Amino acid sequence: MSDSPYENDRIVNEYLLFHYGSHDEVLPYSHGPCEALDFAVRCVSESIDPSTLPRNARALDLGCAVGRSSFELTRYCKEVIGIDYSRKFIDAARTLQREGLIHYERIDEGELTTPLRAYLPDGTDPDRVSFLQADAQALPADLGDFELVLMANLIDRLADPWRCLERLPGLVRSGGRLIITSPYTWLPEFTPIEKWVGGKRVNGEAVTTEVGLKSVLEGRFDFLGSRDVPFLIREHARKFQWSVAQATIWVRR
Ligand SMILES: C[S@@+](CC[C@H](N)C(=O)[O-])C[C@H]1O[C@@H](n2cnc3c(N)ncnc32)[C@H](O)[C@@H]1O
Repeated sequence: MSDSPYENDRIVNEYLLFHYGSHDEVLPYSHGPCEALDFAVRCVSESIDPSTLPRNARALDLGCAVGRSSFELTRYCKEVIGIDYSRKFIDAARTLQREGLIHYERIDEGELTTPLRAYLPDGTDPDRVSFLQADAQALPADLGDFELVLMANLIDRLADPWRCLERLPGLVRSGGRLIITSPYTWLPEFTPIEKWVGGKRVNGEAVTTEVGLKSVLEGRFDFLGSRDVPFLIREHARKFQWSVAQATIWVRR
């Protein structure tokens, strides 16, 4: 597990800024892709239809990282479980949950950094969240089922995404929703090519990840549609990763 990039302090700092940083803290320029800010908030707010959720709704945030979407889900759901494989990410999420804030460093240039604080978002309820360190490819058997499962930018970071996808029908209640977002950045260092869900040729035919997802989910889920979800990760003051995830939305039959 210690080989994982997500156990690195630099990445923990990067994700705290990505999830909790204010617009000025992340992108202090008058130009730049502002619409790509607040990804972890928009993943929830733009994908959820509150009218479809009962008062006692349960939600699962798979690959929750440092927890922003899990906290956002408490605006709509009575109980939220956030799961991530990274011990350091889960520790940071739990510190925020317990203390209401966490101190971290933003990299500006070389070894120059700015100390910052991430705060629990106003209006969210930390008591409704349980954070769990676990492998999305071998989830505990006793998680129960959920009205909502969010998998944000996880699928192309798994060694065996199919194992995770096969577990999903058992996790989403009939009528419940599944939201999968990903930029589909398939890399052999995370996922052996034979396990890629898409982004490759099969018997000479180009297979996109959307097509691959449909091949495994259709039958158990109805496909509601897809949309583009840009996001921006700041590496340092003058270098950013701008990506466009695709969100696919599914309803459990
Ligand atoms: C690209 S990040 C996305 C995090 C977050 N959902 C977001 O959108 O900001 C991928 C996340 O998946 C987690 N992860 C990687 N492999 C995992 C596994 N086998 N089980 C659970 N989480 C995993 C990483 O620790 C990391 O938090």
